Amino acid sequence: MLDKPKVLVTRRQFSDQIIRLKEVAEVIYLERPLPPTPEELRNHVLDCSGIFAHITDLIDGGIMDSAGPNLKVIAEFGVGYDNINVKDASYRNIAVANTPGILTDTTADFAFTVLQSAARRIAESDRFVRNGNWKWFDPLDLLGLDIKGSTLGIIGFGRIGRSLAKKALSSGMKVLYFTRSQPNEDYGCFEVESLKDLLKKSDFVSLHCPLTDLTKGLIGKEEFSLMQKHAVFINTARGPIVDTDALTEALINKEISYAALDVTDPEPISSDHKLLSLDNVTILPHIASATVGTRRKMSEMTVDNIIAGLNGEVPPNCVNSDEISR
Ligand code: DGY
Repeated sequence: MLDKPKVLVTRRQFSDQIIRLKEVAEVIYLERPLPPTPEELRNHVLDCSGIFAHITDLIDGGIMDSAGPNLKVIAEFGVGYDNINVKDASYRNIAVANTPGILTDTTADFAFTVLQSAARRIAESDRFVRNGNWKWFDPLDLLGLDIKGSTLGIIGFGRIGRSLAKKALSSGMKVLYFTRSQPNEDYGCFEVESLKDLLKKSDFVSLHCPLTDLTKGLIGKEEFSLMQKHAVFINTARGPIVDTDALTEALINKEISYAALDVTDPEPISSDHKLLSLDNVTILPHIASATVGTRRKMSEMTVDNIIAGLNGEVPPNCVNSDEISR
């Protein structure tokens, strides 16, 4: 009898999906909440044909070579796959796959929730009460921004950006967007000519582009200086799209009024980072897609991608199908 192919799962996952994988593979399961160190990743990947990867695993040509010639598929648990060097994978004829679509609404819901919470100073107000500062009703304290009638600028108009736009429009916001790709539907939003234009005109700015060489550091000192003083900045995309030092300075100097971040650079951010000492920022631990239903579907989709890859097929959500042969 032939040996089953080996698959590495780098973090704890839903047990029914591990059972599915065990039916077709010998599973090396790192069932724990913390990510493997690069050295652990290198050791555990040896002889693997598939990797069930997470955003915390940096998978480059070196890791692929540590796996060896059996490696056929790297399936990311998530839509963003900037932790995987796709060029290195294509060069080695390895399929890379992700989980698009399934988390669009969950992530856009979250971005809108965060936007509304920032506008109405929810986290700050909760701290206010916990710290014993709620003495009586005060007509002039903790005043926020109205959603209806304000302008939202969306940077990156893919699936998640467009889903957020629909929610914002139905709440009476005006929506501007800046994108490099042409959106295929007109939602009643306005495309701006430049990022500069969007930053100047928006009351809320929300990032929805992937992290690539082009978008790394896209929002820095100059961009914050263009935003309005009352502007709220939201990042549920990827931390390194923003220059963290510039953001910290913009919040300290009140160049913008508030930031709500689900992703940071570095990630996780240390509890003694300067940002955490500021009142005008909310920081959340990368949970935009974290609902039971969505995370379950993401896990299932990741296993579908791995099984197809092990069978010598192009996985259903392959991102480099044009660059590999099967
Ligand atoms: C995604 O799907 O990209 C999430 O950020 C998890 O990595």
